[in-house]
Amino acid sequence: MGETCLQCLIFVMSLLSCSTNQARLSVSPSSSQFFSWKSFSLSCEEDDSSAGWTLRRNTTEEDRTECGKKWGKPAGSSCNISVTASWDSGVYWCESREGSTSNSITITVTGGAVILQSPVLPVMEGHDVSLHCQTKRPPSKLPADFYKDGSLIRTEPTGHMTIHHVTKSDEGLYKCHISSHGESPPSWIYVTEKPTTPPPSTTPLKSTPSPAASSFHLSFILLLHLVVFYPYFISTVLMVSLYRHRPTGNRLPVSMVTTSPTPAEQGLADDYDDVITGVTTQHHF
Ligand SMILES: *[C@@H]1O[C@H](CO)[C@@H](O)[C@H](O)[C@H]1NC(C)=O
Ligand SMILES: *[C@@H]1O[C@H](CO)[C@@H](O)[C@H](O)[C@H]1NC(C)=O
Repeated sequence: MGETCLQCLIFVMSLLSCSTNQARLSVSPSSSQFFSWKSFSLSCEEDDSSAGWTLRRNTTEEDRTECGKKWGKPAGSSCNISVTASWDSGVYWCESREGSTSNSITITVTGGAVILQSPVLPVMEGHDVSLHCQTKRPPSKLPADFYKDGSLIRTEPTGHMTIHHVTKSDEGLYKCHISSHGESPPSWIYVTEKPTTPPPSTTPLKSTPSPAASSFHLSFILLLHLVVFYPYFISTVLMVSLYRHRPTGNRLPVSMVTTSPTPAEQGLADDYDDVITGVTTQHHF
């Protein structure tokens, strides 16, 4: 009985560590605006590929449609859009079977003559941001006007603009304009605040996760529980049972060693008492 209970515990612990899986969506080439008749691919970088991540999008026409159903061509954990059109404009994200979602990316495909190339993902406070105002053909170095939240902020002779050491106040809706060519669609630039505490362990995301890697991950978690939690748990249980069987005369305060055991631990302790008694009896034979 104790054995099965420990197995249950390990199973629950493994489930807990697996349910924290996450995914990140990225787009290649990295741009939130595209001309029509171009191509781009979206990539879902996931911690656990067995969670069944799918790429989905919301557009003005459709809600939550999956890559491969009405749009895009699935390629592993990626999705390719080989010929862009204005109806590919929308919000894209990865979603697991259980419904957890990745970051989302807003993409605008324009039939116009100008796009603004800006960071797709939120920019960390203090970093530099470069913006490029680009015409369809040929790729230009023409003077461009840059706007933030509808107001002209700068005119750049080559169409490139850099914002140094961005702060939260740089967050906003940007667009650009090249005279005699036209205006780009607007895109949001998001700024994330610098974490005050050191960031949680920055495990690099696997770019090409394989089922083998994911099962290795699972084995590793199981191994971890076996090596770390199992002995810890058993020694706690043994300690509790040893103290319980001490002569009551010179009994140490149990509360110093461990808090009162839960019903489950109590049951386990009883089981282990039996085991210990058995072992001791055999030894005396
Ligand atoms: C997609 O559309 C659905 C339905 O309108 C909405 O509930 C959901 O929040 C949208 N998702 C994103 C990422 O915008
Ligand atoms: C997806 O697009 C990338 C370039 O963006 C290309 O290298 C790759 O071959 C494409 N894959 C498929 C399956 O079309």
